[in-house]
Amino acid sequence: MCGIVGAFSRKGAVLDGMLEGLRVLEYRGYDSCGVAVVEGEKVEIRRKVGRLTELEKLLADGALAGARIGVGHTRWATHGAPSDENAHPHSDGSGRLALVHNGIIENFLELRRELQAEGRVFTSETDTEVLSHLVGRELARGLKLVDAVRAALARVHGYYAIAVMSPADGGALVCARQGPPLVVATTADAAYLGSDVLALLPHTRDVVYLEDGDVAELAPGSLVVTNLAGQPLERHARRIDWDAEQASKAGYPHFMLKEIHEQPDVLARTAFDRILSASGDVSFEHGDWSDARLRSFERLQVIACGTALHAGMVAKYLIEQLVRLPVDLDYASEFRYREPVLVPRTLALAVSQSGETADTLAALRLARELGASTASICNVMGSTVVRESDATILTHAGPEIGVASTKAFVAQVVAAFLLAVRLGRARGTIDANGGRALLDELRRLRPRMEALLAPETIERVGAIARGHVDAKGFFFLGRGVNFPIALEGALKLKEISYVHAEGYAAGEMKHGPIALISKGMPIVVVNAPGSVADKVRSNLHEVKARGGHVISIGSDAASHELADESIDVPATIEPLSAVLNVIPLQLFAYHHALARGCDIDKPRNLAKSVTVE
Ligand code: M6R
Repeated sequence: MCGIVGAFSRKGAVLDGMLEGLRVLEYRGYDSCGVAVVEGEKVEIRRKVGRLTELEKLLADGALAGARIGVGHTRWATHGAPSDENAHPHSDGSGRLALVHNGIIENFLELRRELQAEGRVFTSETDTEVLSHLVGRELARGLKLVDAVRAALARVHGYYAIAVMSPADGGALVCARQGPPLVVATTADAAYLGSDVLALLPHTRDVVYLEDGDVAELAPGSLVVTNLAGQPLERHARRIDWDAEQASKAGYPHFMLKEIHEQPDVLARTAFDRILSASGDVSFEHGDWSDARLRSFERLQVIACGTALHAGMVAKYLIEQLVRLPVDLDYASEFRYREPVLVPRTLALAVSQSGETADTLAALRLARELGASTASICNVMGSTVVRESDATILTHAGPEIGVASTKAFVAQVVAAFLLAVRLGRARGTIDANGGRALLDELRRLRPRMEALLAPETIERVGAIARGHVDAKGFFFLGRGVNFPIALEGALKLKEISYVHAEGYAAGEMKHGPIALISKGMPIVVVNAPGSVADKVRSNLHEVKARGGHVISIGSDAASHELADESIDVPATIEPLSAVLNVIPLQLFAYHHALARGCDIDKPRNLAKSVTVE
């Protein structure tokens, strides 16, 4: 939550580049935003509630256009409502510093009282403002900016990525990290920082991921990283293979639609190079995925949040069915506080698009403390989840900007399928022929996904979605591997269309929720031929008998015949049906939200990367 940027240039101006950086970071929060630059001996701050376009109006006078040092912020409010006063950057009123922050300062109230007792005046309700006063107090005592930042951070409990700048000593830019992500880079004539590599890609592809406890001092061509005690640390640059073009809409009206359309390519990038056709097996690059290691596990513990949890649930169905290895699944936020008991030889598997979700990360760390080996399915190389996992399957979905996750989910499910095959081959539940058959079917998904994204199908899904634009609530039902798909379909709809939508295990309806069904209520039923198809059909009859309006999604022709409306999905084997069935559900949510005039890529109250608890 919240995106921060910073830049220090020897030659050119930094404002436009920072605004570009904020634009690609807006997915992290977008209730207010601001920038600060050094102008001569002073810091100038401009901040505004609302989207970046509002801030740009404030900057249109060009007064700050030539500045060479700056920091910027796009906010997802935690402490204090979205307002001009609570927007970042913050200062201490001295005009000698500006600070931006992503995270939460847990002891801010006691610090605020202490600082107020010294006569310091606060102008916002944020926890962040104590940081600017703490740094300001140290600067007033004559410390250099980097030392002042260290001294200030020594007083703080909580987590943060911060960037601070000051006109002192010809200009200084310092950042620090404890928790939320922070990436820095230098070129010959400049230095940059950002919450995400996407903000840095227009300048360079060689970046340094800061680690918890790092404090970095940036200047054109120079990066000095130390710990909080001031001891120097070595941090190496990594080359990023994403490019800035991937973070653009490429002609689509929304990132979400573009990302839905990318899914056939995402399947290919995540899976095809890893398939070993001759042995019916799969190879992974990061960490030890050997037979010996995979045979050593007794249990798998999946931890994730939101959409990633739904992918983790698909993994549970696939792995238990194909590998016969027991899999437990927890919301990461529950796992961390329920005093979990892990059996010896557990593999904890974190699933995360961003690799920075606070709850997932904390759950992963707890699992390690409890003795588990760790692995992750993650989309962001260099992210904290990846760095802290013993082994990783990178999902090569490319940058996902739409807050509603689509292509990252499909990539996670594909990665889970690959993992099931690798585990099955290692543990002997899948032989070479079996592995080849499964992997061949995976390859065949690509043209089937493309068919699902043909204009006729999209138009048909759109027409059905528009037909239910006034519905007060939806149920999404599925069983087996398509139960998590029902959950995901419901999450997509509530997230971007703000309609109540409940995903349910179809067989559970009669234990209570069926009481909610009234005449004409839309019930989306996801079904595929296989082990539970006839059970789902019975559940479909039950809801129809109570007046539900059934929309059947999947490749089960018999379900379509019973339904009021249907979207036919190309057939595949049952374990892979999840990958195809989710696509019409994504499109359904997209068109429903479009018809309701919602802000699809930036739904209200949400942020893409949830780096607070
Ligand atoms: O980055 P992560 O995959 O760890 O994020 C987890 C969830 O916050 C995320 O999937 C969220 O539920 C999405 N907005 C769903 O579309």
